Amino acid sequence: MNRRFEPSGPLRGEATPPADKSISHRAALLAAMSIEPVRIRNYLDAEDTNSTLAAVRRLGALVEERDGELIVRGTGLREAPELDGPIDVGNAGTLMRLLPGWLAAQRGRSYTLDGDASIRRRPVDRIAEPLRLMGARIDATDGRLPPFTVHGTSLEAIDYRLPVASAQVKSCVLLAALTASGTTRVIEPAPSRDHTERMLAAAGVLVTREDGAVCVVNTDELELDEIVVPGDLSSAAFLIAAGVLVAGSRLVVRDTNVNWTRTGFLRILERMGGIVVGDLEEPSTEIATSEPVCDLDVAHGPLVGTTVEADEVPLAIDELPLVALLGCFAEGETIVRGAQELRVKESDRIAGIVEGLSGLGGDLEATEDGFVVRGTGGLRGGSIASRGDHRLAMVGAVAGLASTEGVEVVGMEAAAVSYPGFAADLAVLAQSR
Ligand code: S3P
Repeated sequence: MNRRFEPSGPLRGEATPPADKSISHRAALLAAMSIEPVRIRNYLDAEDTNSTLAAVRRLGALVEERDGELIVRGTGLREAPELDGPIDVGNAGTLMRLLPGWLAAQRGRSYTLDGDASIRRRPVDRIAEPLRLMGARIDATDGRLPPFTVHGTSLEAIDYRLPVASAQVKSCVLLAALTASGTTRVIEPAPSRDHTERMLAAAGVLVTREDGAVCVVNTDELELDEIVVPGDLSSAAFLIAAGVLVAGSRLVVRDTNVNWTRTGFLRILERMGGIVVGDLEEPSTEIATSEPVCDLDVAHGPLVGTTVEADEVPLAIDELPLVALLGCFAEGETIVRGAQELRVKESDRIAGIVEGLSGLGGDLEATEDGFVVRGTGGLRGGSIASRGDHRLAMVGAVAGLASTEGVEVVGMEAAAVSYPGFAADLAVLAQSR
């Protein structure tokens, strides 16, 4: 589906972003791994997280929708049933990388995972390696790609140094650690989102952070009563960028998760001169058992270029395409380095954003591990391809509103994996006074 986004007058009023995608995936998985019923409030109703609900249902969880909430009755840590046929993860990389951490603990049973064309290009060797060290086996296509099969077993605890700062890989190992003998330690090259750690701590698991390592002690059972999913900062970021870029805008983005491991984008935007006010969580080595939420006040204003280095990348990974867009409107150069992970997301986001925004009149150059944007103060407009990637589709929409001639997004339906109502929310903000 193609959709045009015309240059917009000021965006005003308020919007609430959809529920957090990362936290929703984890909520459904941990609920399915619990024996007692878990109530999930504000679960994200989008394609990716619906793939996770379908997967946990197939794995024996009863999922009931009641008054807009989900009640999940799971099968516990070690009792997932054997299945006929593969589990379809759709487009959801987080589901594909986290679920094997649980499946690896299903002694004597094997599970095959597969997904769409984009998923079939995304590497799983990064989870196969630590799970193999814990005693499980993964047979992947060409040794590294889906479809792949997880062979479950009794797991051993490991000390594992992540070769890439990936919350998905970290989380996979932490889920496997729940049933492994002993204490598992995962050493991160740089902090990444810590939703799994927080939810496990809330479920009564002994989880600590020591010298850059996350340690999890095995457990018999998860004890989770209720999980409340906050608004997704990664979705809110598109509303925020629209507010900063469209002249005369002033808006409030409500009830947004501001966990410090997710707010790297706001810190980058602040350096660029963007005006966003909110009660953000401060970095900490403690593991909290909840997720902080606040309203964010956003106003249009001029921007200057900035440099994003590798240690900042995991804390803003999904927002880096937006940093490229902001860079087009800024004065001076915006440089992102150490972000080679962008090449293995839902699409090659370095190629997609550089070619996409160049086609709208931007001056960008791809590098091996990021990009350089020479700010020209704005974008002309034209046509941009989503490449089936939700974040690129939404970048195109925001670019259109802030452009001089409007933007046609080819493949706008991709936004449905995380933010099905994005275009509608933008339209409401454009009509508010
Ligand atoms: C996610 C972690 C990130 C992110 C993805 C969601 C998660 O991936 O890009 O959209 O929920 O853990 P990596 O951990 O592979 O960088």
